[in-house]
Amino acid sequence: MQDFKLSIAECLKEKIEDLSFEEIVGLIEVPPNKDMGDFAFPCFKLAKVFRKAPNMIAAELSESIEAKGSIAKVMPMGGYVNFFVNKSQLAESVIKDVLTQKENYGRSDIGKGENVIVEFSSPNIAKPFHIGHIRTTVIGNALYKMYESQGYNTTRINHLGDYGTQFGKLIVAFKKWGDKKAVEASPIPELLKLYIQFHDEAEAHPEMEDEARAWFTKLENGDEEATALWQWFRDESLKEFNRVYDLLDIEFDSLAGESFYSDKMPRVIDMLNEKGLLKESKGARIVDLEEYKMPPALITKNDGSTLYMTRDLAAAIYRHETYNFDKCVYVVGSQQNLHFEQWFKVIELMGFEWAKNLVHVGFGMVALENGTMSTRKGRVVFLEDVLKQAIEKTKETMLAKNPNALNVDEIAKQVGVGAVVFQELSNSRIKDYTFSWDRTLSFDGETGPYVQYTHARCCAVLRKANEEVTTDINYELLNDVDSAEVLKVIASFNKCIVAGLRKNEPHVITRFVLDLAQAFNKFYHDNSILVEDAELRKARLALVAATRQSIENGLKLLGMHAPERM
Ligand code: ARG
Repeated sequence: MQDFKLSIAECLKEKIEDLSFEEIVGLIEVPPNKDMGDFAFPCFKLAKVFRKAPNMIAAELSESIEAKGSIAKVMPMGGYVNFFVNKSQLAESVIKDVLTQKENYGRSDIGKGENVIVEFSSPNIAKPFHIGHIRTTVIGNALYKMYESQGYNTTRINHLGDYGTQFGKLIVAFKKWGDKKAVEASPIPELLKLYIQFHDEAEAHPEMEDEARAWFTKLENGDEEATALWQWFRDESLKEFNRVYDLLDIEFDSLAGESFYSDKMPRVIDMLNEKGLLKESKGARIVDLEEYKMPPALITKNDGSTLYMTRDLAAAIYRHETYNFDKCVYVVGSQQNLHFEQWFKVIELMGFEWAKNLVHVGFGMVALENGTMSTRKGRVVFLEDVLKQAIEKTKETMLAKNPNALNVDEIAKQVGVGAVVFQELSNSRIKDYTFSWDRTLSFDGETGPYVQYTHARCCAVLRKANEEVTTDINYELLNDVDSAEVLKVIASFNKCIVAGLRKNEPHVITRFVLDLAQAFNKFYHDNSILVEDAELRKARLALVAATRQSIENGLKLLGMHAPERM
């Protein structure tokens, strides 16, 4: 559609000297309903220059522009000139693009190999992988795929929360009450129990907090017992996380978590010192950010131990040295906005010009219907349970419809998991929302299963036709409104991806596949595809094939599968 817009702008430019080509392109709109054409040019801005009423200008412009080539009709309406594009030409260019580029349709190389890091998921070891983590996990994965599709050299990092004072607490709790067998049988729930017990008991016995701090210091100093326990907690937790990543089909290029930077922090502290940025404050060392209206950045505590922030500083510097990134994206909940603002500022104050290439992609919180999630109070919904229930429910529905359905387990996994992923991505990321089992397990309306079902419907038609789909068809037969609506959506794919990247919003892609599914289902409802007339049948099959391919490509960008049968 962009090409059509540009050729319309060219025609307008010939008639309007007072606006630049770019200004004209910028003014062209898509009218609110399709009876008004595919594009509209508002004449209000010209009223002053031409010293005429906008509707007069619109009428004169329409009169003077000849409908030819990609423009089928030009018509004035109020202060607008409405353009109708040549629908057969649209059909030809879109269908040829999709069916020749296939799985590459939508891709481009505008990224020119620039290095982009997407850091996402980053759960905390020994704590549940709960429903709150799903957003960073699926948003990050989709962003990774979107960047990758536009020719960026993309690296996925899982910044595991595998370090920090909580490991001191866990060691104390495990030594007091832990049972090795129980942890091995069910690591995270068992470690979580210990963590909760620690907090309960520490309320009455605050000296336990000191004990925990002492164990963390031991860990930082490489104490053998502390390190062995820590390593074991980490390994057992990762086994659980990996089960979820397998279900979601998500991989990482690097699992360098917080512990990875334990030996890289002294250098950062030295650098801060050299730049004169460090200040003593009650035994702790801080970077004062008062001038920027932020609380100070805490670099070391009064016992010398480092913090979450110290590790983020070390990680950013390490990543810049290792990957030479042009952009480093952090997909982390908006509760951490201040944390990111603070340490981005510290990087800037250290004189790193690349501070401007650090991007925090925040997202809203997930609450539970009965209140906020609380790890300490044991009020959590495990992500694995959500995915498993979604799979179970899909399986039931499939078998109820067809007890002999093929490949049920595989398809139920693709659809059930897809339903959860799609729901997460279809909200704009900044909104908070309340998790609801009912909504997550309902597949009606604008859901992932609906889009996947539309894809499977295309596959079914193509299977039934059982004939070769070619681009050598009569495109005049696809100039009806229903086909044109489908084609217009397909044509917007690349623009959607690029727009989504500009805002780091995968939600643009969920909108794309939904719009396409809706347009296609309208076409499918109103038109027969497998008609007697071979010329018409071939044309419509090409449209079905292009739709199928575009939905598949869209779903894959979201990290979902496109099963051929459901
Ligand atoms: N592990 C942290 C948490 O669960 C998220 C880490 C985010 N990434 C970062 N570079 N700080 O809250």
